[in-house]
Amino acid sequence: MEFQSEMQGAKLLKAQSHIWNHIFNFINSMSLKCAVELGIPDAIHNYGKPMPLSKLIASLPIHPSKTSSIQRLMRILIHSGFFATNSVSKDDHEVEYVLTDSSMLLCKDNQLSLRPFLLAMLNPILTKPWHELSTWFQSNIPTLFEIEHRTVLWDYACHVPKLNEIFNDAMASDAGLVSKLLLDDKCKGVFEGLESLVDVGGGTGTLAKAIVKSFPRLECTVLDLPHVVAGLEGSDNLKYIAGDMFEVIPSSDVILLKWILHDWNDKECLKILKNCKEAIMRKGKGVKVIIIEMVIMEENEIKCDDESVETQLFSDALMMVTFAGKERNEKEWAKLIFSAGFSNYKISPILGLRSLIELYP
Ligand SMILES: C[S@@+](CC[C@H](N)C(=O)[O-])C[C@H]1O[C@@H](n2cnc3c(N)ncnc32)[C@H](O)[C@@H]1O
Repeated sequence: MEFQSEMQGAKLLKAQSHIWNHIFNFINSMSLKCAVELGIPDAIHNYGKPMPLSKLIASLPIHPSKTSSIQRLMRILIHSGFFATNSVSKDDHEVEYVLTDSSMLLCKDNQLSLRPFLLAMLNPILTKPWHELSTWFQSNIPTLFEIEHRTVLWDYACHVPKLNEIFNDAMASDAGLVSKLLLDDKCKGVFEGLESLVDVGGGTGTLAKAIVKSFPRLECTVLDLPHVVAGLEGSDNLKYIAGDMFEVIPSSDVILLKWILHDWNDKECLKILKNCKEAIMRKGKGVKVIIIEMVIMEENEIKCDDESVETQLFSDALMMVTFAGKERNEKEWAKLIFSAGFSNYKISPILGLRSLIELYP
């Protein structure tokens, strides 16, 4: 096939531009990481009104030789929607920056800050393995993480305190945001009338703490690996248990599995779900299992220009290579749920990219 005669002029240039855009796409992530590390969202937030470029530069911990580069960094981040310029800025006035909803969520002092999530996901421990993606495809090593670090992530986190800390903080920041949405008046009913709940793989307990705050009569237990819950102190109605969900899960009315099953393959998920069912039946009441995960779109529903779809596909790829896990569509969820012995399920798409899935015994 003659490539040149097939593609000419505008078509050729459009294809070149598309390739360039994807080659340089990582600059979006790295520019955002840099802005967060330099504290740009915090500086603009603390300024309290649209912040002139010169004031922003003066407030940042940067070398004098780099001052002229800040405007260029901001230009990228304005383009990607993380900052905006004050609409009243005139050509002859200095540019002034304001936060957008997205950069507000990256401020250190915001209780719902996703800053720890961003810093963990873009830490070289997690990004460096991506250079070996084609090596992973050519090997029988289950995860990309193992190609770079010689062990699975949970084991690495057990032995490398830095990863344990940043990973747990990342999960806690996500759990903080999910708690706010899950425990507002519209969704709270999910936990109404329950006496006990076990948050399996509940990390350092952010979601469990928010649940017991809203439902003080609910007995909550967080089950996670020993290095995650080491040294954590519970309260009257919150306790931490170091354990393994593949072995045994404490009895309870309800089991919560937030962002657990996408880390595992179908066989492992089946084992976890069977253990969950056993744990709720052992208690007698056997109310339900609550899963918080993505339900990804079927291939025929996917539109190329939808950012949410792309994010779900990224997340699936991340699970595939980091944990040998996957994001699942409704058909795949249903198969798993019924194979684990549950009789019914309900999907509520109330958490943006993720859904709340309730499984009934
Ligand atoms: C992706 S994180 C989710 C944490 C938390 N549920 C959240 O969404 O914020 C997965 C969690 O599963 C825990 N985990 C991994 N293997 C486990 C096991 N065998 N038993 C119990 N917890 C486990 C990890 O330590 C981690 O805290």
